[in-house]
Amino acid sequence: MKKNIFFIANWKMNLSAQQTRALTNGIMPTVKKYGNLMTLAIAPSFPMLQDVLNISRRSVRMQVCAQDCFWEQSGAYTGEVSPDMLAEMGCTHVLIGHSERRIYLHETDAMIQKKLACIFAMKKNIIPVLCVGETTRQKKAGRSEEIIHAQLTAALAGITLKSSQKLVIAYEPVWAIGSGIPMTPDEFGACAVRIRGYVSRAFGGQGRADSVVLYGGSVTPETARAYVSAGGDGVLVGGASQRIDSCTALIRTLCMK
Ligand code: PGA
Repeated sequence: MKKNIFFIANWKMNLSAQQTRALTNGIMPTVKKYGNLMTLAIAPSFPMLQDVLNISRRSVRMQVCAQDCFWEQSGAYTGEVSPDMLAEMGCTHVLIGHSERRIYLHETDAMIQKKLACIFAMKKNIIPVLCVGETTRQKKAGRSEEIIHAQLTAALAGITLKSSQKLVIAYEPVWAIGSGIPMTPDEFGACAVRIRGYVSRAFGGQGRADSVVLYGGSVTPETARAYVSAGGDGVLVGGASQRIDSCTALIRTLCMK
C-alpha cells in the first residue's frame, strides 16, 4: 500500500485571525482532492487554533498541530499550555523542540525530554513532532551526525511508548530554516535512515525502526516531492505554506507520482 504523505504547515507567529481563516478555507478543496494521498496538519499560533479546528472538521485529512506545549498538565505556570488542553481541543499533533524555541526561548534537551514524557504519560492521544537539527557552526565543524544523535538520545531518554502512541521526527537543519538553502534530498535520505536507526536504538530496538521522519528547512513546491522520493515520510514547511498559491502547490506536488 502506498504510504500517506504527511505535510505540516508551520505558520509560526504569522497571519491574523482573518488571514488564518482565509488561508485554511482556501486550501481545503485541495486537501479534499488529494486526501487519499496526503494528510495536512496546520500549525497556527495558539489564538488561531480553534478557528482552524472548526474549519478542519470538513476533512479528516486536515488536522491541527500546536506549535508547542508545557511539560505539566496543569498548575501555576502562567502563559503555558498543557498537552491535555490541546488534545481536549482536538489538536492531533504538537511541535516539540522547534529550533526557533531552542534559539529564542533557550529550550534545552532536558526541557524537551520532560515535554515528551508528559505527552506519553497522557491517556488522551496527541502526537509529538520532535524537531532536531544542527546549526551552521555545528555543520561546519563536521558535527551534524553527532548533534542529531545527541538531541534524539537526550529527548527520548527514559521514554517508553505504548503500542497506540506515535512519535514523528522532523529533521530540520537550523542552517536550512528560512534561509533559502535547503539540504539536498539525497543528503536528507541518508540522514533519515540514520535517524530511524537512532530512534529504534533509543527505544531499545523495539519495533520503532519505521518511525515517521519529515524534512524541514526551505522546502518549496519545486523541491518538496524529492524529499519524499528520497525516503522521507513528508515535510514540515514554514514560509512556503503561508500563502494559498504555494500551499496548494505544495499539496499537489507532494502527491505527484
Ligand atoms: P521554512 O521553515 O520552511 O520557512 O524554512 C521551516 C520550519 O521552521 O519549520
